[in-house]
Amino acid sequence: MGETAPSVSPDSDIVTGPRARYVSAMLDRRFSVAPMMDWTDRHCRAFHRTLTRRALLYSEMLTADAVIHGDREKLLGFDPVEQPVALQLGGSDPAKMAQAARIGADWGYAEINLNIGCPSDRVQAGRFGACLMREPELVASLWSAAQDAAGNVPVTIKSRIGVDDQEPREALYALVDLSARAGCRSFTVHARKAWLEGLSPKENRDVPPLDYELVRQLKRERPALQIILNGGLRDLDHALDEMHGVDGVMLGRAAYQNPAILLEVDARVFGVEAPNDSRIAAVEAYVPYLEARLAEGVALHAMTRHMLGLFAARPGGRLWRRVLTERGVKRGAGVEVVRAALAEMTNAAALAA
Ligand SMILES: Cc1cc2nc3c(=O)[nH]c(=O)nc-3n(C[C@H](O)[C@H](O)[C@H](O)COP(=O)(O)O)c2cc1C
Repeated sequence: MGETAPSVSPDSDIVTGPRARYVSAMLDRRFSVAPMMDWTDRHCRAFHRTLTRRALLYSEMLTADAVIHGDREKLLGFDPVEQPVALQLGGSDPAKMAQAARIGADWGYAEINLNIGCPSDRVQAGRFGACLMREPELVASLWSAAQDAAGNVPVTIKSRIGVDDQEPREALYALVDLSARAGCRSFTVHARKAWLEGLSPKENRDVPPLDYELVRQLKRERPALQIILNGGLRDLDHALDEMHGVDGVMLGRAAYQNPAILLEVDARVFGVEAPNDSRIAAVEAYVPYLEARLAEGVALHAMTRHMLGLFAARPGGRLWRRVLTERGVKRGAGVEVVRAALAEMTNAAALAA
């Protein structure tokens, strides 16, 4: 797609070129970080890349309309260092979904993922997200339209196991079977229902009970499909314990709130070396990214907010958080705040030892 010939780096499997198109056939979905609105923005993903080279990272959900009509650089722009990164789309109009998927593929995303799981009112008003669990034929059409448009970039689906009074065994299978018949090969399942009335989106991530067994059963009965388990995985030990009988795991809140989890993913899931050998080294590795974005006018806090949990539950962890939140929001704050936070955290940890 570009003017210059792409080159493959043996270290990262990443094709570098004008838009850093990723060789999607190489995508490994054994471990991914979930799409999370307001959280997994490009700065968050660049930070996560200092902790894991191999985890598949997802964008926040973007509506097809936003992708088509919005400021594309602002919404879709990312740094090649984030690859492999998947773009998550929401929508219910196949023609628009096709257009948005093509734009995402051209932009260089390694995967396009359709959101069939989000329960917010805004999303329901647009007739997409979790309420599409009730319309599996439409989901299959959305998938076909998106995949036709995305060319060789794979289009995947992220769903719940059902909504409201649906029988999960029926709702999940109908959704998966119809889309699989259309050609979809990879499904990530948030293993709980969404209750569309009466629960907030936040409550919908905790209250409906988890059913990992149903997801494993789906994999057993549809072995040709790739099935990724999501929902309630507390840490890496828990995720590895629950990985049996599925093709991979997706972590959302645990990975965001305690990003040090990601430092162990490359070794324990993929059997390769992590990009950095400690949290402090990861912070140091993020500094050049911070400097580059600061020079472009990005506020420090827009980036460091994603790092607050890095030393969670460790000596000095609160101090780290406090320095970043109190000094990081000041006008003109630069990387010296990050260095100060590191120094104060390290001193506190040394005193506690
Ligand atoms: C702040 C936040 C925003 C989220 N935004 C999205 C989203 O944009 N798209 C989506 O499919 N799921 C979204 N989710 C749901 C997560 O992707 C994930 O399915 C859910 O949190 C369960 O996984 P976990 O228990 O590992 O967090 C969001 C979750 C959180 C906490």
